[in-house]
Amino acid sequence: MDYKNIIYTLENGIAKIEINRPKAFNALNTETNNEIEDVVDAITDDPEVRVLIITGNEKVFVAGADVTELADADPRGAYDNCSLAHRIFKKLEALHAPVIAAICGPTLGGGLEMALSCDFRISGESGLFGLPEITLGIIPGAGGTQRLTKLIGASRAKELVMLGNRIDAQTAKEYGLVNLLVKDEEVMAEAMKMADRLCKKPAVALKFAKECVNFGANMDLDTGLEFEKSRFSLAFNTADQKEGMKAFIEKRKPEFINK
Ligand code: HXC
Repeated sequence: MDYKNIIYTLENGIAKIEINRPKAFNALNTETNNEIEDVVDAITDDPEVRVLIITGNEKVFVAGADVTELADADPRGAYDNCSLAHRIFKKLEALHAPVIAAICGPTLGGGLEMALSCDFRISGESGLFGLPEITLGIIPGAGGTQRLTKLIGASRAKELVMLGNRIDAQTAKEYGLVNLLVKDEEVMAEAMKMADRLCKKPAVALKFAKECVNFGANMDLDTGLEFEKSRFSLAFNTADQKEGMKAFIEKRKPEFINK
């Protein structure tokens, strides 16, 4: 597939999706969503892909769903649009590899919802976060009411969802929405640094760790603990568990083979 709205690269285990619709402030139209889904499908379970970075440009991450495309939708069309976004963001969330959102500028509506389905968010000082759907006469429809609430709590989430507040990167950091706040020009370097660290972790255990945290966030404690137990046990089926513990006992650095 030739991509018109994104740039996809894969180098040294680090895949990168750069949203590239600058004229529309990187708004996600159906074509862009389809392209993102195509990449995510292609890299899912590919052991060569150790980390995925999603980014925009130095001015904007993503300004939301494309309002010009949504404006004339009927409920059926809106439902389909919502379903597409849910499907893609769930695939991102479930990706075997960790996903980092590297953010500068407005990260609004569907853009914030995409960032929320990533494992980590690194923002530059220009980061601006919000769910402005209420100002358009609608509500967030790509997971914002759910994932944001789980991440920062109902009270703060309502400031964005109901009041339509836009928060700056510093506030987003205080809310726990952003993991790391750096200068704009350092965002990609920091994302690469984090990606490099993640690449050095044992891939199977890393996948299990991600699965457990994501699963547990949506379950009662007992169900989450059972899931953790299953993944903890399965980790003992890997060469990296043997190597990791042997290396500790021998007081040396482990050499993981990601199996
Ligand atoms: C389509 C968009 C857009 C969007 C910006 N543009 N956001 N086009 N959809 N979401 C376009 C503008 O129309 C304009 O095009 C150009 O990008 C620059 O925008 P300006 O507003 O002129 O620039 P600026 O004043 O710098 O403000 C940038 C901005 C603002 C802060 C990002 O544009 C803004 O608030 N955008 C709307 C964000 C929004 O409401 N998002 C939620 C969408 S609903 P022209 O051609 O005039 O230059 C949503 C639902 C998701 O996301 C759920 C789906 C299932």
